[in-house]
Amino acid sequence: MREGKEVTKIQELVYELKTEDAMTDHLISICPETQMAELRTILRENKISGTPVVQDGRLVGIISIEDFINWLADDGKTCPVKDRMTSRVETVYTDDPLIKVVGKLDRFGFGRLPVVDRSSGLLKGIITKGDIIERLLHKLQIEYQEEEIHRYRASHLFEDIIADSVSLHLDYEIGERKIEKGGTVASSLKKTLRRLGIHPDIIRRASILTYEAEMNVIIYAYYGEVNVTVSPNCLHMTIRDKGPGIPDIEKAIQPGYSTAPSWVQELGFGAGMGLHNIKSCADELEVTSTVGEGTTLKVQVEVGDTCI
Ligand SMILES: Nc1ncnc2c1ncn2[C@@H]1O[C@H](COP(=O)(O)OP(=O)(O)OP(=O)(O)O)[C@@H](O)[C@H]1O
Ligand SMILES: [Mg+2]
Repeated sequence: MREGKEVTKIQELVYELKTEDAMTDHLISICPETQMAELRTILRENKISGTPVVQDGRLVGIISIEDFINWLADDGKTCPVKDRMTSRVETVYTDDPLIKVVGKLDRFGFGRLPVVDRSSGLLKGIITKGDIIERLLHKLQIEYQEEEIHRYRASHLFEDIIADSVSLHLDYEIGERKIEKGGTVASSLKKTLRRLGIHPDIIRRASILTYEAEMNVIIYAYYGEVNVTVSPNCLHMTIRDKGPGIPDIEKAIQPGYSTAPSWVQELGFGAGMGLHNIKSCADELEVTSTVGEGTTLKVQVEVGDTCI
């Protein structure tokens, strides 16, 4: 490809995706006879700043908060929306590529464009920049996941090992109790699991729960270790610490429960979500603790039917 001629992924997507893929089809519209005085409530209740005006399924105009403000400034005399709306409306078609919508939004400086069916002329939806961004992010996420799975298949170490069963043990220490060191074990484990070709879903869950457990050891305990047994479609993890222990485990797992001191809260931790997040990421979680001695979390993460 010639220099300066690279096409970004986003550009490729805005050509590929159609307006109907991104538009909102849950339409809030009003009819031309609606009173201007009602407009404010309609916009506020639906959290929108403008809405199409429709008669018999056809778009006859568009009205926005700006029109409402202008109406108020001109005395706010009772009148129907049709007297204050913009009737010559720029629209796009459902089968237009998103690039056309982006162009029109930019060119005219509008916040939204109504979407019309090319053959019937009926109003089908409305599209904003926000809708486009959301759709692009969603599409990028899907493609990224596909790519991750592809990479995962390509590097699956366990595939080449011939044995009735195979597993690998990884041990990590959480020695240094510095909050800025939090996440070191989680990130080493993540890298290692990637290299082993473990499924991305498992890696994501394992690294989130390791991070939360590691932070708890750093904040509440004195010393900890993480032991991981990796097999092709399952991880068994043990996070064991020497520390004060947890007097009421059930309470500690409740979302929102925290005894974090204020200096920890000032650093943005202590929302009481750590153990809850660990539970959500795990297929099985067993917490045991002895007050004055320490706490052990035994966690299992399985790949389910996504495994090969
Ligand atoms: N390893 C541990 N040793 C002793 N107490 C712990 C340990 N892990 C958790 N706790 C106790 O359980 C409570 C809840 O822990 P959890 O991780 O859910 O929330 P948090 O650490 O307070 O906040 P967040 O994790 O959201 O930053 C903690 O406030 C603490 O009292
Ligand atoms: Mg925590």
